[in-house]
Amino acid sequence: MRIVLIGPPGAGKGTQARYICEAYAIPQISTGDMLRAAIAAGTELGRQAKAVIDAGELVSDEIIIGLVTDRIAAPDCANGFLLDGFPRTLAQAQDARAAGVEVDAVVVITVPDTAVVERLSGRRIHPASGRVYHVTYNPPREAEHDDVTGEPLVQREDDREATIRDRLRVYHERTEQLTGYYRELETRAGRPRMITVDGQRPIDAVRDAILDRLSAIAQAG
Ligand code: AP5
Repeated sequence: MRIVLIGPPGAGKGTQARYICEAYAIPQISTGDMLRAAIAAGTELGRQAKAVIDAGELVSDEIIIGLVTDRIAAPDCANGFLLDGFPRTLAQAQDARAAGVEVDAVVVITVPDTAVVERLSGRRIHPASGRVYHVTYNPPREAEHDDVTGEPLVQREDDREATIRDRLRVYHERTEQLTGYYRELETRAGRPRMITVDGQRPIDAVRDAILDRLSAIAQAG
C-alpha cells in the first residue's frame, strides 16, 4: 500500500503514521523527521533547512523532491510506503507523479486551528526514534522520558506559538489545496482513494477509523 498522509501541523500525522506502518509493514517517510535528522547531523542540508523550519516556512520543492525520490528507491519501499508530510505543495505532488511515484490512498486528517496550538505546545518527542507524546493526551509512563529507552524527551523548536501560527498559515495557503488535486485524480483515474477523518476524536478512535477505511480499500484491490 502506498499512502500519503495530509493534515495541518498537529493533526496527528506522526501519531497515526506509526499505526498505519505497523498494520501494513511499510516504512514511514517523514520529510520533517528527515530534515530534523539533517539538522542534528549538522549537514549542509540541515544548515539550510534550520532557518526555514524555525520560521515555519517550507523548504524548497527541489530539495524535498530529491530527498523523497531517493528514499522511495530504497528496497524497503518495494511493498509500499507512508509519506508523512509530503507532498506539501502542488508542485511536489505533480513532480512526484511525473517521477513515477504512484499513490493508492490519501488520508486527510482534519483538525481546527484552535486545537492545534494546545496540541503542539504540549507535544514532546523522542528525537532518536520519532516517538510522539503529549503531556495530557498521550503521556509517557514516566514524565518527560521515552517509554522504550527511558531517554529524556524534548520539545521541538518550531512548537512555539508564533511559529505554529506561521505553519498553519502556510498549510492553508499551500498544502490544503492538495485535497482538491487528489480528489480530481480519484474522479478521473479511480486512484488514489481519498479518506477523510475527524482528527479531533481520541487517538484510538482516529486510528480505528483510518485502519477500517484502508482495509476496505486494500480488500477492493
Ligand atoms: P513536519 O515535521 O512534517 O511538521 P508538521 O506537518 O507541522 O506536523 P507535525 O509534526 O507538527 O504534527 P503531526 O500532524 O505529525 O502531529 P503529531 O502526531 O506530532 O514538518 C516540519 C517542518 O519541516 C515544516 O514546517 C517545513 O518547514 C519542513 N518540511 C517538512 N516537510 C516538508 C515538505 N514536504 N516540503 C517543504 N518543507 C517541509 O501530534 C501533535 C500532538 O498532538 C502530539 O503531542 C500528539 O500526542 C497529540 N495528538 C495526536 N493525535 C491526537 C488526538 N487525536 N487527540 C489529542 N491529541 C493528539
